Amino acid sequence: MEDFINAWTLRHGRSRDKLLPLLHAIQEECGYVGDGLVPVIARALNISRADVHGVVTFYHDFRRAPSGRHIVKLCRAESCQARGGTAIEAQAVQRLGVAMGQTRADGQVSLEPVYCLGLCAIGPNALVDGRPVARIDAAALGHIAAEVGA
Ligand code: FES
Repeated sequence: MEDFINAWTLRHGRSRDKLLPLLHAIQEECGYVGDGLVPVIARALNISRADVHGVVTFYHDFRRAPSGRHIVKLCRAESCQARGGTAIEAQAVQRLGVAMGQTRADGQVSLEPVYCLGLCAIGPNALVDGRPVARIDAAALGHIAAEVGA
């Protein structure tokens, strides 16, 4: 990845404002931004490791480890919470066999939080491999579990 980062910074520049675009490029290239890359990125952009770490950990969209073959994101924002999201999350953890924010040991599915999908009136909502699924209930969770092979 160091070669990729060096080539990227040659093309796009080495300034602080390149941090987010570089992180997105790394995630697109290898699927996640591993902790081991933090010093490499910091050096490439001449910023501190703390700056890089702070950005990577602040934005939920940056993965710090490889994801599962399927990714289920459940909305944790207020409207979905008010529409039963907390109970749905507990059921999802059970049905999918993985804790929130984790990837199942067999690598089949990752369960992740997301904060509002813009579908608030028809929640609780999820994204299943990038596809929005509204009005999640126990039956919908069963379909999702079957779809992702859980
Ligand atoms: S709060 Fe869940 S989609 Fe907006």
